[in-house]
Amino acid sequence: IKVQEYRPQSFIDFTRQENIDAYQAALTRVRAELVGKHYPVVIDGKAVKTREKLKSINPCDTSEVVGTTGKATIKDAEAALEGAWEAFESWKTWSMDARARILLKAAAILKRRRLEACALMSIEVGKNYAEADVEVAEAIDFLEYYARSAMKYAGFGSAETTWFEGEENGLMHIPLGVGVSISPWNFPCAIYLGMLAAPIVAGNCVIAKPAEDAGLIAGFVTDIMYEAGLPAGVLQFLPGVGKEIGEYLTNHARTRFITFTGSRAVGLQINRVAADVKPGQKWIKRVIMELGGKDGMIVDETADLDVAITAATQAAFGFNGQKCSAMSRLIVVDEVYDAVVGGFVERAKTLKVGTGEENANVTAVVNEMSFDKIKGYLKIAPKEGKVLLGGKAPGKAGGKKGYYIEPTIVGDVKRDARLAQEEIFGPVVAVIRARDWQDALAIANSTEYGLTGGVCSQSRERLEEAREKFEVGNLYFNRKITGAIVGVQPFGGYNMSGTDSKAGGPDYLANFMQLKTVTERW
Ligand code: SER
Repeated sequence: IKVQEYRPQSFIDFTRQENIDAYQAALTRVRAELVGKHYPVVIDGKAVKTREKLKSINPCDTSEVVGTTGKATIKDAEAALEGAWEAFESWKTWSMDARARILLKAAAILKRRRLEACALMSIEVGKNYAEADVEVAEAIDFLEYYARSAMKYAGFGSAETTWFEGEENGLMHIPLGVGVSISPWNFPCAIYLGMLAAPIVAGNCVIAKPAEDAGLIAGFVTDIMYEAGLPAGVLQFLPGVGKEIGEYLTNHARTRFITFTGSRAVGLQINRVAADVKPGQKWIKRVIMELGGKDGMIVDETADLDVAITAATQAAFGFNGQKCSAMSRLIVVDEVYDAVVGGFVERAKTLKVGTGEENANVTAVVNEMSFDKIKGYLKIAPKEGKVLLGGKAPGKAGGKKGYYIEPTIVGDVKRDARLAQEEIFGPVVAVIRARDWQDALAIANSTEYGLTGGVCSQSRERLEEAREKFEVGNLYFNRKITGAIVGVQPFGGYNMSGTDSKAGGPDYLANFMQLKTVTERW
């Protein structure tokens, strides 16, 4: 395959009016062409009629049904597995090059339809322009990056072995079989696509179960994969309810692997279920998981405070804190506590709350369940600290009813308080006061999670200490702790944050392959 070296997509500059205009034109187009659309369940390349449908609701205006998807049943799940195993027989024999070309073609189509995908997410999950754009860029990057990394696993001798007299020895990477991909609503384009493109390019077949709250964008990019030439059955599109088909498929004896991004509670449940061997099951299921975080950023007395305040604001409130990577703990050394927290509150006050379509900084959270959960934390906030900003859930913005929560900053939260330990997944930050640098580092590590973390400091010594001791999968110095770029910052956490599988990293595809050693005595 002849391709240029991988380069991440650049982002659209929304300080330029022409780009804003183009985005708004895309919103109009999407409202005319995609809103109201139905994306059916697709099994073996054919649309399947389902008795029930899943409605996708605009979180910024809950009176609007954005569209619908099919709602797969257990019977559909069974048919999807059956068909995918059939498709696997041929798909696994395709050359790595040919499979990679499908990803590259899909990337090319998505590049042409970039603004449509963005606009659809603004309406379906309330992303503002930059958040949507960064995500579609990431989706394209996943396709481009995994297409290229597939090459290193092609053919016999795909990994180094030591020469041995009189024999030929070598390793082959082979696909696992059929797996289930259960993806989240917060990156319903990029993570959805990344989690299916990687196993697929490696020669597996995938049953993709998109998140209930974001089925339309998943349907949109699934269509792009089919348009790019993916054979029927290699990707089964199975929107449905996690508790029903997700659980059924993770339990199933014929499921070879499960790739999941979502909450810790669901992840641990999947892990338990997957470990249980069912009658007729021939393998130990492989589980690849990307779970939550309680991500902390330390600011010490040597930090450039403006850098720290900008980083905190972006990482806490980008997409309303609905990222597993979001900064939900700001840990500030006492000496600069007042200056940092004061500046952070002032900066956060400038954030506009409104819809994704009008490009507000903070939009509505995804659904009623999230809204209620976050409201629960707002309720305990005054008991666990000082509410310095926000603290309310108006449920309305610009005359629209939606799941709106004010950007909220709670000061002087104790390190072991619920606000400092539990994942909130909303625009709520717990600020924790540390005595000094060592205390700050101890606070940062006092969580079961280990996803992202950050340090704002000018001290080389401390940055080096953090490099060794800060227990996270993705550590950032003097910048925001969100927005990992494919290939640049391989992404994933350890401890309770997941299996540290590093999406967008050099070895990610190996998660979906097994190795065979073949020896021939001459
Ligand atoms: N990869 C995203 C980030 O880095 C989170 O899923 O923000």
